[in-house]
This record gives sequence, C-alpha cells and structure tokens, in this order.
Amino acid sequence: MAKIGLDTTLAANVLITGGLVGIPTETVYGVAANAFNQQAVVKVFKAKNRPAFDPLITHIKNQLAVEPLVKNIPEKARMLMDKFWPGPLTLVLPKSDKISDLISSGLETAAFRVPRQNLLQDLLDKINFPIVAPSANPFGYVSPTTAEHVNEQLGSNIDYILDGGASKIGIESTIVSFETEYPTVLRLGGLPVEEIETVVGELMMKTSSSSQPSAPGMLISHYSPSKSVVLGNIDELVKKHQEDKIGILSYHNKYQRYPNFVMSENASLEEAAANLFTGLRWFETQDIDLVITEKVPDEGLGRAINDRLKRASIN
Ligand code: TXA
Ligand code: MG
Repeated sequence: MAKIGLDTTLAANVLITGGLVGIPTETVYGVAANAFNQQAVVKVFKAKNRPAFDPLITHIKNQLAVEPLVKNIPEKARMLMDKFWPGPLTLVLPKSDKISDLISSGLETAAFRVPRQNLLQDLLDKINFPIVAPSANPFGYVSPTTAEHVNEQLGSNIDYILDGGASKIGIESTIVSFETEYPTVLRLGGLPVEEIETVVGELMMKTSSSSQPSAPGMLISHYSPSKSVVLGNIDELVKKHQEDKIGILSYHNKYQRYPNFVMSENASLEEAAANLFTGLRWFETQDIDLVITEKVPDEGLGRAINDRLKRASIN
C-alpha cells in the first residue's frame, strides 16, 4: 500500500527522483511521472500493465507550458485552450521532440491537458517539468475517482498518493484531436461536445461508439468491471434474468428488491457522472453475478456516461 496524504512537497520530491505519484484531478485520479524521465515513464506503463501502443496524456500547469511541447497550435485549438483550460478537455496536437515516442506510442501527435484541481496545481507549481498521467487503474478496469480506489488497485506500484477527495466530474476528459484540419472528438468525456461546438463549430466524431474509432487503445472493452453488465430497459431485463443473481445500476429510479445503486436521485447528469464509477465498483462487493443498467438521456454529460455504460457491457 502507498502512503496517502496532502503533502505536495513530498509528492514533488517523488516525481523529481523518478517515482510515481497518484494524483487527484477534476475528472479521475491519475498515476503521474516526470514526462522528461524515460525510466519513470516506463514505470507508468508497467504499474498499469498498459500496452505500449496506448499513448499517455501530458499534464501541464497552464497554456504557456504547452508551447515548447508542440510544433504549432492551430487557431481553433487555441480558442479551446482559452475557453476551457484549466478543465476536462484534452487536445491532441503535433508534438515537438521534447515529447518522447514512448509517451506518444510512436505517433507524430501527443495529448495535452491542463487540470483544474487545486492540490494538483500546487504540485505543478513545485516542479519544473510536465507530468504524464494515465488514469490510475489497471489496464482494462474502470478509472478511480478517490485516493482509496487508487490505493486498492495500484497502491503497491506507486510511491505516494495525493488525496484531493472525490473527483468532482468523475468521468475522464473529452479528447479533441487536431491531427487533421478538422477538429475531431476521439473520446466523449467530462466536457460536453455541445459546449465545445459553441466555440469552434461542428466537430467530427471518431469515438468508440462511432463507426471509425481512432484513439489508440479505445477499441477494446476498456471499462468493464469483473461482473457482467447488461444495458437496456431495466424492467424487461429484470424479467428476463429472473434466474440470475442481479444488481441494478439505475439512473434515478429506486429498485428496493435488489442490490441497487442509483446514480442520481434527482436525475442530474452531473451527479450521475460523478457517481458512475463508484457505482460500478460497488457491485464488486455485492453477491451478484449480473449488473442490469440503463442508458441516461443522450445529451450533455449523458453521452459520455452512455459511452462508458456501453463499454462496460461489452464482453
Ligand atoms: O481525464 C483524463 O484524461 C485522465 C486524467 C488522469 O487526466 N487521464 C486519462 O488518461 O484518462 P488515459 O491514459 O487513461 O487515457 C488517455 C487516452 C489514451 O487511451 C488514448 O486513447 C488517448 O488518450 N491518446 C493519447 N495520446 C493520443 C494521441 N496522440 N492520439 C490519439 N489519442 C491519444
Ligand atoms: Mg484510462
């Protein structure tokens, strides 16, 4: 188990000496290393059991810090940075030589984001290098939204966990790529696509749920917990699975007869996003074989929630 605390000076020293730190962000917790230390970056892949073809997001303190790491910044990318950084938006841009092939999995582009989380911003103030940070879950598992989640799964592989409390948004950042002339959404996430479109106009979609997904590592079932998940109409699925030991992950209705996790009693998509991964994890502790769940309204954060539910239900 790793030590958990609020000590950003200790966390900075761990990063400076090539170690790994569990970090809070407004989306989900990450496992961070010095982006300029190759051996530390290798440790990140090993700690997560992550394949080398799945590139990492580089986290920086502010917009200025991205300049040396990229070849150029397209005008629309600049507009998005101005409007949404710090925040739950990752931008894929042509990388400079400062970003290693290890980080980008050999691609000419790399992913960047400026997190909106006070403790993490304090930590970034104490170091003079960017950090790579994938979500702090073993590869193929749901992302962690608390320091305890990180400790349970990766505690023995990392040196320190910075405890920022429960992640406010609860779902990973939205990824927009500027690899081509047309800004393209690669992953639905914590910043609704509708909000991004108000700034730069209509976006192309290459998410896992579209016909041509293009973010590496996104084709496989990436969010599946160890129990089976079925997605559909809850009442119909309950009838169909009368013989099975079921649990119910519902949007806002309560189901008293079964182990039930309600994502948001007052039907708020923000609250549902914040609770989603905790909900999926809760069923691991229940004596059930199957989780029955339903889609939420397919708008705003609901699109990202539905994307995660769909992936969790692929086996
Ligand atoms: O909210 C988040 O983004 C969290 C927190 C910790 O910041 N991080 C996160 O990282 O979700 P990760 O590693 O679990 O997912 C990053 C994804 C990769 O799986 C990959 O699909 C995409 O970002 N990605 C990274 N670099 C890319 C690139 N050059 N081109 C396309 N996709 C890329
Ligand atoms: Mg991840």
